[in-house]
Amino acid sequence: MDCTEVRRRPVLAAAAGNSVPILLCLCRQGQQYVQSVTIPEGRSGSMVAVITEIICKSGTKSPATPEQDRMEGNGGAKTVVRIAFGVILGLALAPVALLAWFSLGHPPVAVADPPLPLERWITHIPLSVRIGREMPGSAVIQADEKNLVAGAQIYRDRCAACHGFHGKPSAFAAHMVPAAPPLWEKHANSAVVGVSDDPPGETFWKVANGIRLTGMPAFKDTLSETQIWQVSLLLANADKPLPPAALQMVRGEQPAEAAPAASGKP
Ligand code: HEC
Repeated sequence: MDCTEVRRRPVLAAAAGNSVPILLCLCRQGQQYVQSVTIPEGRSGSMVAVITEIICKSGTKSPATPEQDRMEGNGGAKTVVRIAFGVILGLALAPVALLAWFSLGHPPVAVADPPLPLERWITHIPLSVRIGREMPGSAVIQADEKNLVAGAQIYRDRCAACHGFHGKPSAFAAHMVPAAPPLWEKHANSAVVGVSDDPPGETFWKVANGIRLTGMPAFKDTLSETQIWQVSLLLANADKPLPPAALQMVRGEQPAEAAPAASGKP
């Protein structure tokens, strides 16, 4: 390919003896070939470099000079620029794609929808970090009969609808996303019942604050701190023998109306 243009370019020579890059030729493919001229002694003003004899053949370059290598980057610099451009374009388009995904109604909003990739993982890691940081170390009340019976009463009235009774799973827990785990069922291949392996402080945090984007409500405005400890201690002891009155309630054998209800915050 021949040159489409040969430039006659004035060169402002900084000092005689300097090597100054000048544009020699613009090929049809857009490459610029650069050669340097050395300013002759005694010509420290401006000069016009007149180039008469340039032929850019396709695939071949006019003799490479250090300036040419620098300007064309020998391909490496161009690749870096292309990658940087791709990254910037990608970053600019990501919010647009996300917005389109949301506004076209694609995120899973129905319970029947399949979960997002890594959904559980994404929500559970920050949750457990937060709970680990904020949960109280030890219960301020004893797991004695009075507190366990009071806890069972709260469980029956406030929790059983979702988490089920001992031996009677909730009718709809499995149809929630995420499902409300049965808290009186033994784990497969272990003696753990429900959350009996969790420290009561962890259950206290979950009951008090709730778990966002799940059906688990926050009870700190509707139960007193003592009541939250009572139900948390009950669940921590779910794998141990319970006082008969408590057992009766968590089995759903004593309907809510029959006992004085564990009503709201005193
Ligand atoms: C409206 C339904 C609903 C009610 C009422 C409810 N929960 Fe939950 N609970 C859930 C759901 C759903 C989850 C699962 C959250 C998750 O997967 O992160 C849950 C999770 C929990 C957990 C954590 C279980 C685990 O495996 O880590 C505990 C503990 C718990 N609830 C205790 C209670 C207690 C105590 C009450 C009553 C004071 C209660 N919940 C009332 C729906 C409910």
